[in-house]
Amino acid sequence: MIQLKKMAGRALLLAGAPGTGKTALALGIAQELGKKVPFCPMVGSEVYSSEVKKTAVLMEHFRRAIGLRIKENKEVYEGEVTELTPEEAPSQTGGYGKVISHVAIGLKSVKGSKQLKLDPTIYDSLQKERVNVGDVIYIEANSGAVKRVGRCDAYATEFDLEAEEYVPLPKGDVHKKKEIVQDVTLHDLDAANARPQGGQDIMAMVGQMMKPKKTEITDKLRQEINKVVNKYIDQGVAELIPGVLFIDEVHMLDIECFTYLNRALESSLAPIVVFATNRGICQIRGTDMAGPHGIPVDLLDRLVIIRTLPYTLEESVQILAIRAQVEGIAMKEDALARLGQLAEQTTLRHAVQLLTPAHVLSKNNGREEITAADVDEVHALFHDAKYTAQLLTEQVDKYIQ
Ligand SMILES: Nc1ncnc2c1ncn2[C@@H]1O[C@H](COP(=O)(O)OP(=O)(O)O)[C@@H](O)[C@H]1O
Ligand SMILES: [Mg+2]
Repeated sequence: MIQLKKMAGRALLLAGAPGTGKTALALGIAQELGKKVPFCPMVGSEVYSSEVKKTAVLMEHFRRAIGLRIKENKEVYEGEVTELTPEEAPSQTGGYGKVISHVAIGLKSVKGSKQLKLDPTIYDSLQKERVNVGDVIYIEANSGAVKRVGRCDAYATEFDLEAEEYVPLPKGDVHKKKEIVQDVTLHDLDAANARPQGGQDIMAMVGQMMKPKKTEITDKLRQEINKVVNKYIDQGVAELIPGVLFIDEVHMLDIECFTYLNRALESSLAPIVVFATNRGICQIRGTDMAGPHGIPVDLLDRLVIIRTLPYTLEESVQILAIRAQVEGIAMKEDALARLGQLAEQTTLRHAVQLLTPAHVLSKNNGREEITAADVDEVHALFHDAKYTAQLLTEQVDKYIQ
């Protein structure tokens, strides 16, 4: 539903005991959505900063989770690089140094070719994008921004597998209008407009650093940006890509934040919000009321609640096997089964944490694979939360209370 954009402005709550895979599920959602959809994770307690207001922290994360795909027709020079020569001149400040006075670049397309003489600042962009002769690039005419599209397919080799992306020689003229697609978040726009970059020369940068204070992202600025964004959306220039805001440990938020969330979810520019909590009925922070999951009922009423259940033995074993594989740890079959049992007895997280020490132990004993005996040994060495609590009650007279 998120991918079909049917979820914007709605919210989910993942509720379940610790270690039932809530955080893992949210990260899985992020992976599935891919790079083009913004995913912004945060933990409830992050709102308590001494410098920024709680609602400002929430607001920033909200805006990081809303994407905008902007399509612009820009005047560009596009083609395969046929020549790339920085022209040097003696430094004007004297001394032995040489500076680059301009860059000569040749671009070729299907219809023609062009020789350009460019400003030295563009040379830096060309180097940053690692442009070489034979690459296909475009340069935006009014900003000088350089984008490397790929390597021209005339240079394609017969390897089956290669890191390089080959692209055909661009059609049309070198100098033309081209539709350029850019993915940004509302927060990117806020930040870019709060600190205008100005020219790229050193003096402009120094000037910025010497400014008494960085301009803040104010509500007024955000409203201005929303206005422009809405206009772009109406005109079809930009497309809204509602992403996901993930707030883990949501019971850490207080009533002020919850009230703010209630309102923010109703805004026309809202992401999909996924909350997670492992709390039952507990106090709603900032009030003396209790609520299910520490969340006020009016907010709870808006949420689709998904209960996460403890993993079964087979599932735990499967997850442990995946973890071991990811970390490059080899385990004997019975060791895995033993660790799975431990996960049942203690917690999955504890069992996952035993993987590395067990690996070290088996290596020190000159073995490649972890055995069940290794698992038993690390289990004896390291206590889990339940066991340590039990010990403390048993030996209550030995500790300082
Ligand atoms: N489907 C899964 N695949 C791989 N690892 C998982 C999976 N589900 C849970 N885990 C692992 O189990 C542990 C507990 O899961 P987690 O998502 O942190 O629980 P919760 O957030 O509900 O407390 C973590 O170490 C996590 O990496
Ligand atoms: Mg978690």
